[in-house]
Amino acid sequence: MPSFALRVETVFGEGCIAELGQRAKAAGYKHAFVVTDPGIRAAGILDSILSSLDEAEVAHTVYENVTPNPTIPEVDGGVVAMRDAGGDFVIGVGGGSAIDAAKGVAVTFAMGGATSKEYLFGVGATPFPGKVMPLFAIPTTCGTGSEISAAAVITDPVSHYKHLMLNCTPNVAILDPNLVAKMPAPITAATGMDALTHAIEAYVNPGNTPFTRMFATRAIQQISKNLRQAVNGPDRPAALKHMLYAADIAGQSMSQGLGQVHGLSHVVSGRLGTPHGVANAILLSQVLEFHKDFLAEQLLEIAPLMGINAFGMPANKAATEVVAAVRSLRSDISVTSKLSEVGMKESDIPQFVEDAQKSQGIFIAAPRAATAEDLSAIYKSAL
Ligand SMILES: NC(=O)c1ccc[n+]([C@@H]2O[C@H](COP(=O)([O-])OP(=O)(O)OC[C@H]3O[C@@H](n4cnc5c(N)ncnc54)[C@H](O)[C@@H]3O)[C@@H](O)[C@H]2O)c1
Ligand SMILES: [Fe+2]
Repeated sequence: MPSFALRVETVFGEGCIAELGQRAKAAGYKHAFVVTDPGIRAAGILDSILSSLDEAEVAHTVYENVTPNPTIPEVDGGVVAMRDAGGDFVIGVGGGSAIDAAKGVAVTFAMGGATSKEYLFGVGATPFPGKVMPLFAIPTTCGTGSEISAAAVITDPVSHYKHLMLNCTPNVAILDPNLVAKMPAPITAATGMDALTHAIEAYVNPGNTPFTRMFATRAIQQISKNLRQAVNGPDRPAALKHMLYAADIAGQSMSQGLGQVHGLSHVVSGRLGTPHGVANAILLSQVLEFHKDFLAEQLLEIAPLMGINAFGMPANKAATEVVAAVRSLRSDISVTSKLSEVGMKESDIPQFVEDAQKSQGIFIAAPRAATAEDLSAIYKSAL
């Protein structure tokens, strides 16, 4: 039977990053292995993390060799560096890419393996790793919910497949709105659409539960209300704070699985390097459009959460309005609606569908089973 647990201690509020060092020290940790990417240092975010550790006299080593859509070699490089440094816990600070790389390091280090590939679901010999180093996750984007989720997404640069690593839930998430206050608008937009995708895919997932739906409901409502403001409105700081929390809540909603938007977008990002949120934003409307008659009753429930007055509306009409609301939100925050604009060509479709069927089975089964023809049609509609 399904179960639901809140596994991550979540610390939140402006300035709460200052507590990081004391919290780590109180837990008995001595040497932090900080996994991040160069954009986080450039944004001035790393300073607040390192100074909190310094104040608590917790040693630290920084590993910055992480790129968007992080890869197996990037994770493996971190494991070697952590062994060399003598770290005894991991801090992931950044967007989903840095946090996922930190999760990969925390698992591979704890399991003692030679490569993180060993622990990738559907790939390695140990698809359900049983150990993970103590892990703090500090998001600097408002999107992935990785700070709360049980999985990491790691790319194999040879096959271009994005794979899941499971059983890597962080111990503590630190949500400090000050860390997202200066996030560039295009990153805010893309990551916000990722969070919306999580909540909607979780809501319509056949495995949904009353608990996952509770989180999805709140997240859809908050994102619909705040994402435009967070990207380019006059009340940006307050809206970004709501988005940071909403993305985390959306992360809580996805514990029973996501769906075809993620399955198809992972292939796009794996092959073309497209930011995860952008690929999702393009595909969300198209996957919903494709399944909207099947999903009509559920989209009727989602409609008011997106600000649509659906009182007395037939379900099919509400479903159409939800798809339109997704498109208008995406357009208002200047995210492209076309896969051709991120470099995909019609001739890519057969390869991408094959990739999706081979590597994204866990995602492409929802909201309902899809044939190769279905997946091709969705890609084609998004070009
Ligand atoms: N583990 C999960 O549950 C989960 C869920 C969804 C997505 N993901 C994964 O997360 C990754 C995407 O993460 P993302 O969308 O957060 O982006 P990201 O981590 O790839 O970051 C994108 C860029 O934004 C920069 N950046 C991040 N925060 C910033 C800030 N505050 N100011 C300035 N620049 C900043 C980074 O330096 C980077 O260059 C993908 O690999 C995706 O597959 C994981
Ligand atoms: Fe996502």
